[in-house]
Amino acid sequence: MGTEMNYGEAYKKLDRHGQLHVLKYYDELTEEEKTKLLAQIEELDFSVLEYCKNNPANRKGIISPLAAMQLEDIEKKRAQYTEIGLEEIKRGRVAAVLLAGGMGTRLGSDGPKGMYDIGITRPVYIFQRLVENMLEVVRRAGAWFHLFIMTSDRNHKVTEEFFEQHEYFGYRKDYVRFFVQDMVPASDFEGKAYLEERWKISTSPNGNGGWFTSMNKWGLLELVRENGIQWLNVFAVDNVLQRIVDPAFVGATIANQCVAGAKVVRKTNPDEKVGVLCLEDGRPSIVEYYELTDEMKKAKDENGDPAYGFGVILNYLFHEKELERITDGQLPLHVVEKKIPHIDEGGDPVEPEVPNGYKYETLVLDMIHQVRNCLPYEVEREREFAPIKNAVGEDSVETAQKLCRANGIEL
Ligand code: UTP
Repeated sequence: MGTEMNYGEAYKKLDRHGQLHVLKYYDELTEEEKTKLLAQIEELDFSVLEYCKNNPANRKGIISPLAAMQLEDIEKKRAQYTEIGLEEIKRGRVAAVLLAGGMGTRLGSDGPKGMYDIGITRPVYIFQRLVENMLEVVRRAGAWFHLFIMTSDRNHKVTEEFFEQHEYFGYRKDYVRFFVQDMVPASDFEGKAYLEERWKISTSPNGNGGWFTSMNKWGLLELVRENGIQWLNVFAVDNVLQRIVDPAFVGATIANQCVAGAKVVRKTNPDEKVGVLCLEDGRPSIVEYYELTDEMKKAKDENGDPAYGFGVILNYLFHEKELERITDGQLPLHVVEKKIPHIDEGGDPVEPEVPNGYKYETLVLDMIHQVRNCLPYEVEREREFAPIKNAVGEDSVETAQKLCRANGIEL
């Protein structure tokens, strides 16, 4: 981290945000601990904590349907779209961004989710599956594309070492760059930052919405510009079937003169827990499943099909210029209740059994509302959607294994 911030400056910064309690143990700390704490105070953005005092409750505008480009239409033009996309890839204008900074709490494994082995007769790591899919595109295009991998403080080192140890699963190392997302303070329900140690503020990763800002911080935007990369395909770590830098998807977005695209799948039922791409006050937006009203669930389009019938799968394509345009715009903060280990008044450690505060996140899906337009592009869910969220049951390793095997992938 390396910091120049002194005690007086740290005091002022904390005072501005009502967080002076963070310095409670300062006088008792060793010189090294003092330096660490000051560095952390300099680094962190405490303004997120004010959110909980004047919570503006994510107010939605007027929602209307946004028709998806469906498989039938795509099939008719697949050859044309693929050709456009392949050309763009060959020219080095497309890159992939893997979001791997999450904690994977629901899966319950200690390590990064991408290191999870879903193999049965041989090791098949989630990262490996994703790279295998990318390699198919590399072969088709006869060209490598850049892969940027976002990690967090918690999993950066181990992720990088894992790729190294497995020789990048056959990907060209010089086309892979890692960057680390920012951390934000975690607080109690009143918005007071917790201390994890006397010299350390409790933090959590700032959500997957900060990826472009973090890429920029790590100097990767320069690399993007220098290499003439125009499109960034952002995707989640946990969908082991997804096609990344999919030529037809890239081509369709370009051919339809859109600055963004989102892969969507037909929902299995109106209550399925996926966000729906629609229009909000005339601009693209994603409505979360719990925000869908009964009326919206029943609404039909002109063909009599569900008007809000397609869910996003966290695979988005953004034009780089559009990202630069929106990057200053503030994304809404999502506040999530969480169990936050901390020290109590007496400085003793506490491991809470129920949520005792908030973590603060921005989400990539909110970026969709900032872009001028976005193409909802349907993909066949049986072939492209096998998310691993839970250890067992729905969206688990088991369901993903079945889907992989149905697609001829040896596990
Ligand atoms: P999820 O919303 O599934 O979160 O992330 P998660 O942290 O992986 O898992 P749970 O909720 O704790 O069980 C969707 C995608 O966004 C990435 C994840 O790695 C995943 O690819 N992500 C999430 C980040 O990169 N950073 C974050 O802070 C959060």
